Amino acid sequence: MINVLSVASECAPLVKTGGLADVVGALPGALKKQGVSVRTILPGYPAVMAALKRPKKLLSRRKLFGGPMELLAAKVAGLDLQVVDAPHLYDREGNIYLGPNGYDWPDNPARFAMLCWVAAMVAKSGADGWRPDVVHMHDWQAGLTPIYMQVQKVAKKVGTVMTVHNIAFHGLAPASQLNDLMIPSSYYTSEGIEFWGQLSALKAGLVYADKLTTVSPTYALELMTPDFGMGLDGVLRARNADLTGIVNGIDTGVWNPTNDPAIHPYKTPAGKAKNKADILQKFGLDESYGPLCVVVSRLTHQKGLNMLLQALPVLTARGGQVALLGSGDSDLERAWMTEAKHNPAVGVHIGYDEALSHKIIAGGDAILVPSRFEPCGLTQLYGLRYGTIPLVAMTGGLTDTVINASPAGLSAGVANGIQFLPVTTDSLATALDHLCDLYEDKKIWAMLQKNAMKQPVGWEESTRQYMALYQKVTNAK
Ligand code: ADP
Ligand code: GLC
Repeated sequence: MINVLSVASECAPLVKTGGLADVVGALPGALKKQGVSVRTILPGYPAVMAALKRPKKLLSRRKLFGGPMELLAAKVAGLDLQVVDAPHLYDREGNIYLGPNGYDWPDNPARFAMLCWVAAMVAKSGADGWRPDVVHMHDWQAGLTPIYMQVQKVAKKVGTVMTVHNIAFHGLAPASQLNDLMIPSSYYTSEGIEFWGQLSALKAGLVYADKLTTVSPTYALELMTPDFGMGLDGVLRARNADLTGIVNGIDTGVWNPTNDPAIHPYKTPAGKAKNKADILQKFGLDESYGPLCVVVSRLTHQKGLNMLLQALPVLTARGGQVALLGSGDSDLERAWMTEAKHNPAVGVHIGYDEALSHKIIAGGDAILVPSRFEPCGLTQLYGLRYGTIPLVAMTGGLTDTVINASPAGLSAGVANGIQFLPVTTDSLATALDHLCDLYEDKKIWAMLQKNAMKQPVGWEESTRQYMALYQKVTNAK
């Protein structure tokens, strides 16, 4: 049995802003089948605190990063949680990263330094008679952990793995905060955590963790290039030998069209019809002869949805429609709402709605993911599982999880979606036109749906790879 402490800033079903939470929430259950025991350490945001029933106090400090801290343990939704209760840092309503003005909470560096410091305490002394063999850090919020493990002189036996879910977020703080963050100034060098005159928590993880992973093999390669590495490609090239790409799975229990409580369940694509009718009605769309394309997404530059707005006429000219569920940047929200107002082929729901995300994916004919970059992406995997054909940009995990309906893919009978490259409006428009061609050919469309629904999208293969990696870092100690 290997003990793993997973360090993360979000975890489904308790607190979620994106796919990171899904992965952090699903991995422990999937790894259990491989003989790995995972405890997940999280900040005590209000939603997390409210979910704890009779928690057990594990550790406490009267003053850490400006206030009191208690580490609490509880089992919630099958997860073994360790929750860092520090009200001065976490007891605030609203977005977990952003204040009411839409900008990062000014004390974010301390908020997540606290998480990492306490994780290092657990690595050092254990808690509740349990001690990790491996500490697994997710994204910049967990990045300072290996430094704090050194500062706290954790015996060398605990291995560290850092997973990059999205390199766009660096966790920057002014160098003047080194002291407050309890980071010795010896780490503040260009080979260490310095990044263009600031300190970067993400870089700390990339430099000091034993092994690095990211969430797809293609993104692992992309990260080492200037186009995708966002200034950290050199660091990743230097650590090439320690970097692997392990593709995300989805929770096939939660995302199961045969018994999903949010939809009219179905076993074959024919069963999608009722769900489609519901979505058309809900989004105020009439029946049409073209494909109903759905989108479930954060509305940010990454996701390429402004390109979709520009490419829409090609789709709608062929009877295609779009139903979009999303929230995010206000200019994108506004642009989509305006489109829906003037375009009868477009329906939009601005907001975050878990149940509706299931319904819309069940009801769509195709799901669109035109991302400019996409480390893995989960919604195309939901699409596959629900027989909703993914049309995706050929980048990151979208490259690795979809088999393109190219002439070769079609004649070999293996295609399950559409990929487009380069990631531009023109090539997206061409792909949408191709989608309409495929949709018109009922035989080909049925083949795509059949292939999609039988594609393995669970965690089995990826947990084997994580397990092998955990073994490698523990054996090396
Ligand atoms: P990212 O993490 O970059 O946002 P992913 O595709 O990995 O992209 O994961 C996004 C997750 O968030 C998926 O589980 C998706 O269903 C969910 N999601 C995104 N936007 C919404 C929304 N408006 N309502 C419900 N779920 C959403
Ligand atoms: C990030 C990425 C997304 C990935 C998710 C989970 O949010 O943007 O592509 O699927 O993390 O790893």
